[in-house]
Formats: sequence, structure tokens, C-alpha cells
Amino acid sequence: MDNRPIGIMDSGVGGLTVARVLHERYPKESMVFLGDSARNPYGERSRDEIARFAEEIKDFLLRKNVKMILIACNTISFNVYPSFTKGTVPVVKMSLDITLPEGTKKAGIFATPASIKTHAHKKYVEKKFPHVEWVEVPCDGVAAAIEQGKDENFISALVQKAAKEYHALGIDAGYWACTHYPLAPGAFKKVFPDVPFIDPALPTVEAGMDILRKEDGLSEGGGRNEFYFTDGLTHAAPLVKRLFGPAAVEKTNLVGE
Ligand code: DGL
Repeated sequence: MDNRPIGIMDSGVGGLTVARVLHERYPKESMVFLGDSARNPYGERSRDEIARFAEEIKDFLLRKNVKMILIACNTISFNVYPSFTKGTVPVVKMSLDITLPEGTKKAGIFATPASIKTHAHKKYVEKKFPHVEWVEVPCDGVAAAIEQGKDENFISALVQKAAKEYHALGIDAGYWACTHYPLAPGAFKKVFPDVPFIDPALPTVEAGMDILRKEDGLSEGGGRNEFYFTDGLTHAAPLVKRLFGPAAVEKTNLVGE
């Protein structure tokens, strides 16, 4: 048994979609969540910058005495350098191990420009589903719009623009390869009314919990969840409340704890 919290990191509110699944499936676990909203979006930054910011978040979470870190962000997961996942606690990347509806012929990978540049998702799913035609759709501005709480029409116009530009309008399944996107399902539905979208939050959480199980590292419960953001809480705090009920939400500058 290990009652220490699980650390969860993202560039902002998107990682809450992974935290939500962890909380629903494993309510006895405590979480320390960090969303780097002040420097969002990461998906339009360089690899070096993303990797440097990720190290700062990791240090913050380690100071909070976490037993494991879930990288609840695809952009961070596939832009950090290999040393990032080595250390004193397990560091788990976003899972690429999605499932697809039967009969899928053409599918779209919707992600930030920085994630698409790595081709990590495409390389993996092409191997797993060789008979599916995969299109990569870098979604400029979508994560930032969700982060800022923009309305559904604004977000769906950005999705529509990206889908058109990258020839994804004829897909029969979509892969949300950015954790912000499941916070705006309606915006995707407007562009793709009958297309199912796949969220990899569950396989990500399960991959992490499998590691803890093997180490006898599950919690007995009784802990509490803490949510930190590096920028104003006007959008993040109500969202946390809606998803998790009353919880501690604080602003941090990452270093001065
Ligand atoms: N939520 C992040 C992801 O999964 C990225 C959002 C951003 O651009 O900062 O890729």
C-alpha cells in the first residue's frame, strides 16, 4: 500500500480529462494536478521548450511527494527526451493503445502541431491498424481556445478549418490525440455529427495503475486531491468543481513552494 498522491501534468486544463477517469475508476487514490496554463499552448512551441517546461513541472510534482506521474498531455509525452521517464518514480506517457470501431476505413489523428510533428501517434496506429487509412490533422489554436473557455462555435470553426485543410472531412473515426479535445465534444460533433471519437484517457490510466499494482502501490484511500494552475483560475476553478466537486484549487509559480 502507498497512500502518496499520483501526480498529473498538463499544459493546462486538458489533463483534467485524464484525472477525471482516474478519479472515477480509482476514487481511493489522491491526486496532485498541475496545469501550466500560463504557458499554454505547448503545442505551438519548440521541442526544447516543451521538454524544459516539463522538467519544471516534474520537479514540482516530485516536491509534492507523488508516487507516480501521469503525463496527461500528448504534446509533452512525445516531445520529452528519453531521460524524462527515468528516475525515482514511474513516469507514464499518454497511451497510444487505442481501439477503433469495427469497419473503420479512414481515421483522423487530431493533435497539436507539436505532437503531429513527432508522428508518434501515426507510427503506432498504422502498425496496429494497417488496413485503415490514417490522416494527421494538426489543429492550430484548438487547445488554446479550449483552455481559454471559448465557445463551441469558435472551437468548431477551427476544427473545421484544420479538417478541411488536411483532407479529414471523410473520416469514419477520430482519435483525440490531445487531452484538451475531450473537453469540447460538441465542437467536434458540429463538424463530424456521426463520427465516433476515441479518447485514450482510460488506457493511459490503466497503464499507470498496472505499474502501481505490481509494486503494491495502490492507496487505501482517505486522501485529498489538489489542483494547481500557473495562471488565473477563472476558467480552471469552475471546471475542476464541475468535474471533481469541491477541491483545493490554487495558483502556483512552480518554484516558490
Ligand atoms: N493537452 C495537450 C495535449 O494533450 C496540449 C495542449 C497544448 O497545446 O498546450 O497535447
